[in-house]
Amino acid sequence: PTLVVLISGSGSNLQAFIKAIETGRLKARIAAVISNRAEAYGLRRAADAGIPTDIVSHRLFDNRENFDQVLQDKIDAFQPDLVVLAGFMRILTPNFVRHYEGRMLNIHPSLLPLYKGIHTHRRVLEDGGNEHGVSVHFVSPELDGGPVIIQAKVPVLPSDSESSLAERIQEQEHVIYPQVVKWFVEGRLKLVNNQATLDGNAL
Ligand code: GRF
Repeated sequence: PTLVVLISGSGSNLQAFIKAIETGRLKARIAAVISNRAEAYGLRRAADAGIPTDIVSHRLFDNRENFDQVLQDKIDAFQPDLVVLAGFMRILTPNFVRHYEGRMLNIHPSLLPLYKGIHTHRRVLEDGGNEHGVSVHFVSPELDGGPVIIQAKVPVLPSDSESSLAERIQEQEHVIYPQVVKWFVEGRLKLVNNQATLDGNAL
């Protein structure tokens, strides 16, 4: 099965996929890594792994639709079975999302539906929460609103800073995201009537 991974930054989740593939745990091929930011370190991780990379800079477009259309054409050239958003920091238009319905995933660092949007770790700390987490979901037109597939919970410690909390979350991300992609490429995970199902059972 063919994956295309979209990134905007470090690409540590991308690295987790690369490792899962190299160790034979994830039987898939990353056909390309596409970033909207030329400075994304994840592009270096892809290049080091021999994966083709491309950049579609959102700054070159005067509206979301044009950006999304160029991005879609580049993705479709690889004919992926699955599009994986891994730290991709762009809001995608409904038409783009519908085009990949049921075959596009995202990871969001919160226990959805709590803390949609950005700066989730900071907001949890500000609210004095004692639990936080991360969610992997199918992408729907509603930002961070798609059907949740799996979540991982972590404690918030009194000594936590934004970075210590983010680090604890990312440890979990690198476990659950490759697992979800594995379920998908094995044909076990499907979106049915806007509901995530595993082996036919609603999640
Ligand atoms: C992760 O925390 C992910 O949950 C969020 O952005 C961050 C990206 O991390 N979407 P990386 O670029 O995969 O290291």
